[in-house]
Amino acid sequence: KKVAILISGGGSNMVSLLESMTGDHPARPCLVLSNNADAGGLKKAAAAGVATAVVDHRPFKGDREAFEAELVKPILEAGADIVCLAGFMRVLTAGFVSQFQGRMLNIHPSLLPKYKGLHTHARALEAGDKEHGCTVHEVTPALDDGPVLGQARVPILPGDTPEDLAQRVLVKEHLLYPAVLRRYAAGDRTPVLID
Ligand code: GRF
Repeated sequence: KKVAILISGGGSNMVSLLESMTGDHPARPCLVLSNNADAGGLKKAAAAGVATAVVDHRPFKGDREAFEAELVKPILEAGADIVCLAGFMRVLTAGFVSQFQGRMLNIHPSLLPKYKGLHTHARALEAGDKEHGCTVHEVTPALDDGPVLGQARVPILPGDTPEDLAQRVLVKEHLLYPAVLRRYAAGDRTPVLID
């Protein structure tokens, strides 16, 4: 299976995914694509020998469809079978999602269905939750929705700041996403649960 990974920033999840796709893993990376030419992950991908591409969303202003018509090209040219969103910070329209539904994953830093959208760590703290975590799900047209393919939990500790929590969750993201991709690429959708 060929995997395209979409990023917007540092790409730490992308790095974890790249490092996992070795040996008898049923998938290999075919592309790292970003909407941000300055994304730190692009250099990491290139250093790992993976093809990279950039489609800057800014020239398209609010025309999401026009941006996505360009964004889809390198994914199709690379022949990706699976698309992994990893810290990709653009909302995708139903039109784009429909081209990859059933073969597109996303990682979200909350225990979905709680805290869809942004600022998940601050919201969990604000709510006084004792537990938090991350979720890998299949991408559907509704934001941060779709079948859950894996979850990892972390405790919320007294005095935690949103940054403390983000770091604790990110460590688990780097375990969860590769574990889910390995199963998913083998055609197994049994959820991965990490405590
Ligand atoms: C992190 O906040 C992570 O929780 C979310 O996207 C952000 C950047 O991740 N998935 P990455 O380091 O670019 O993978």
